[in-house]
Amino acid sequence: MNNIAIQLDNVTVRFRIPHEKIPTLQEYAIRWLKRRSVSFTDFNALDNISFSIKQGETVGIIGANGAGKSTLLKVISRVIRPTQGRVFLRGRIAPLLELGAGFDYEMTGRENIFLNGAVLGFSRKEMAARLDGIVEFSGIGNFIDAPIRTYSSGMVARLGFAVATDIQPEVLIIDEILSVGDADFQKKSAARILEYYNNGSTILVVSHNPNSIKQLCTYAIWLEHGIIKMMGSVDDVINNYSLSLV
Ligand SMILES: Nc1ncnc2c1ncn2[C@@H]1O[C@H](COP(=O)(O)OP(=O)(O)OP(=O)(O)O)[C@@H](O)[C@H]1O
Ligand SMILES: [Mg+2]
Repeated sequence: MNNIAIQLDNVTVRFRIPHEKIPTLQEYAIRWLKRRSVSFTDFNALDNISFSIKQGETVGIIGANGAGKSTLLKVISRVIRPTQGRVFLRGRIAPLLELGAGFDYEMTGRENIFLNGAVLGFSRKEMAARLDGIVEFSGIGNFIDAPIRTYSSGMVARLGFAVATDIQPEVLIIDEILSVGDADFQKKSAARILEYYNNGSTILVVSHNPNSIKQLCTYAIWLEHGIIKMMGSVDDVINNYSLSLV
């Protein structure tokens, strides 16, 4: 177990999908009063998944829309709990989940930096000391005192990346958000990721771009309908995945 950074043992995440559309809360209440139950189907977004990742490895996660990639990152980041199984994680994690996750869109960029810092476990004083560096890296400029809802998606991604990666995390988790950044930001974020990789961070990246996975990662996991279709060296997995698409 010594140099394991992330380990999943038989992890299942089950969602409950309502069968019929319930238009209003009132309608729901009427059904409940009439004892007419609303019917559900259970659906496994992740189905009995087990794997482990050593400290310092960079792993890419690929697969079709709906395969379970974001669910996998969320369960590792403890945003959702597994229905079954267990997740082991060592060290401080910086999760960059779907765009805007963890931001309050009515609050300004500056306020959101403090909010995010609190979520990541930093005090207000620590965040105040780091504020300038974060704003500078994000390149948001004067917009830092405007509400996030006025930002473009690239600006949201920049701020999210700048906050989460200001201090080197032991585990860095990135769900696709780098793709919305412009060339300048892609270069800056790639340089920072590479620096953390060289300093021993464990990195997990979801991307639909095989080239960015190949550039960043040594291993890859191919998810399909909530199960691991293949896990191995990045070249093997990406080649097999590409072949499956033709
Ligand atoms: N909160 C939820 N409630 C019900 N179903 C969900 C929920 N979150 C995800 N799902 C379902 O779980 C499956 C996996 O979703 P997930 O977001 O992990 O896919 P993904 O691989 O990240 O896809 P994409 O490439 O589109 O981002 C999908 O079928 C999705 O509809
Ligand atoms: Mg996703």
